[in-house]
Amino acid sequence: MKHILAIDQGTTSSRAILFDEKLRPVASAQEEFAQHFPASGWVEHDASDLWSTVAATARAAIEKLGQGADDIAAIGITNQRETTVLWDRATGRALHNAIVWQDRRTADLCERLKADGHEPMISARTGLLLDPYFSGTKLKWLLDHVEGARARAEAGELAFGTVDSWLIWNLTGGKVHATDATNAARTLLYNIAENRWDADICALLDIPMALLPEVRDSADDFGVTRADLFGREIPIMGVAGDQQAATVGQACFRPGMMKSTYGTGCFALLNTGDQMVPSKNRLLTTIAYRLNGQTTYALEGSIFIAGAVVQWLRDGLKIIRHAAETQPLAEAADPTQELIMVPAFTGLGAPYWRPDSRGAVFGLTRNSGPAEFARAALESVGFQTRDLLEAMRADWGAAAEGVLRVDGGMVASDWTMQFLSDILGAPVDRPVVTETTALGAAYLAGLGAGICPPPEEFAREWALEHRFEPAMDKATRDARYARWKRAVAATMAA
Ligand code: G3P
Repeated sequence: MKHILAIDQGTTSSRAILFDEKLRPVASAQEEFAQHFPASGWVEHDASDLWSTVAATARAAIEKLGQGADDIAAIGITNQRETTVLWDRATGRALHNAIVWQDRRTADLCERLKADGHEPMISARTGLLLDPYFSGTKLKWLLDHVEGARARAEAGELAFGTVDSWLIWNLTGGKVHATDATNAARTLLYNIAENRWDADICALLDIPMALLPEVRDSADDFGVTRADLFGREIPIMGVAGDQQAATVGQACFRPGMMKSTYGTGCFALLNTGDQMVPSKNRLLTTIAYRLNGQTTYALEGSIFIAGAVVQWLRDGLKIIRHAAETQPLAEAADPTQELIMVPAFTGLGAPYWRPDSRGAVFGLTRNSGPAEFARAALESVGFQTRDLLEAMRADWGAAAEGVLRVDGGMVASDWTMQFLSDILGAPVDRPVVTETTALGAAYLAGLGAGICPPPEEFAREWALEHRFEPAMDKATRDARYARWKRAVAATMAA
């Protein structure tokens, strides 16, 4: 029996999941690693932690299956996107901690570039906006602040990569320096219309192009692993950023299909087919996947705080001990109170893009307590998703089919999913398999290795577990959403 190993390197943990030939998960392992916050708004990972937890969890998953690595046909990699690593090609050592996607240290640089009028050109070519979220300004920061880095980069001694490239480099023992089109599309340096690194943007940010990895398809040959890692060489045949892998895992292959993943943040992607739709509503235009040289595009809405708001209830406010306590608390909340929580802890993402905003709670009374906070926290996830869908509908009108496929940890809460459907006024579909990110990576690797069926056939396997239908009347929905919009406006003005 053939297996596929999916490596999912996320923001707070690394996971390895083995899938059988019917793409059913059969063994897995997970390891968390340290988060570093060296200054306010700064977030770093030790790049060697990312690699060591990936190697350890992959070995642990293989061990759990108990059949050795002999029957593993291929590896698929999916990863936290935008996080930036700079390393020495000779020693394979990172020159600095990885700068994580959440890190806001380049906010001023982005403002200056915007003030100098560069955003329209950058948006037209990359589909992105001038926000510290993306890799380009983080890489510039590293080259500006690590002593000698720029000269060494110009001499071709250094390599840049998003986390996928860093893992491929380590898995192949430094033989392959490559990335896939979905990860390249998040760097701010990649021209998504022409599918090439953009020399003008690199020049603007003073980034030597010798640093950049080769860009391949999402199902492609990324080399083989070092033989000593797993006892034999295993081909790496699929790579995609985690949100794009989830889009594949949710089988959103037709234009108009969309998915939303609720992890630390929330990322909604709408498949727009071979059309690169420029957003008039401050969404991102990005690559959903590239197969056989054919690019499929997506509109993306990125929210930085979704599951993280529940973590804050637990670790910050300490009003719950486990995430699962949030739903019963929310159900018990006083229906006469209307708390609105805007969780702009690290600024606001789409469609507002305000790195400087911070969170706020409105409507507090003397009776407000943990239950009302829990309900407001869960509702904030629904309101933020509605912001994204409003923008998507405005950008792509009737083409959006209106059904949202959901995945990620938070979708286990029926209450949260019902509220989501209520506030969107649209059906919300929860699939049987909610491990869609790893599934997408495994499928891409299986496709690359020639052991998985084509997308249309894979899509037929997608199975619905539950459809949530909107039950809130339109007047209530509109009134509640209008209050949310007022709360966001007040937060941005504060
Ligand atoms: O763009 C950031 C995203 O890829 C991070 O995802 O699941 O690691 O929080 P996650």
